[in-house]
Amino acid sequence: MYICICNAVNENAIKAAAADGVTTLRELSLATGVATTCGKCATEAVRILEQVSAATETMANSGASRQRFSVPALTVVA
Ligand code: FES
Repeated sequence: MYICICNAVNENAIKAAAADGVTTLRELSLATGVATTCGKCATEAVRILEQVSAATETMANSGASRQRFSVPALTVVA
């Protein structure tokens, strides 16, 4: 779902930026362009950013790893 119509920034782009270490609206604006035109999306963008940060903290505090599944290496058979 698009969060920032002006700059065509969707929720996944915000979550990806958060996963890359973005923690503030300023950093998010620099990374994605969100909230750099009319600014009406800023509140929702920050909400998503905080949601991802809270989830990341919960995982870190529980000792859970972000990578829960391992993918076996592919073997090419000629
Ligand atoms: S909707 Fe994001 S800057 Fe306008």
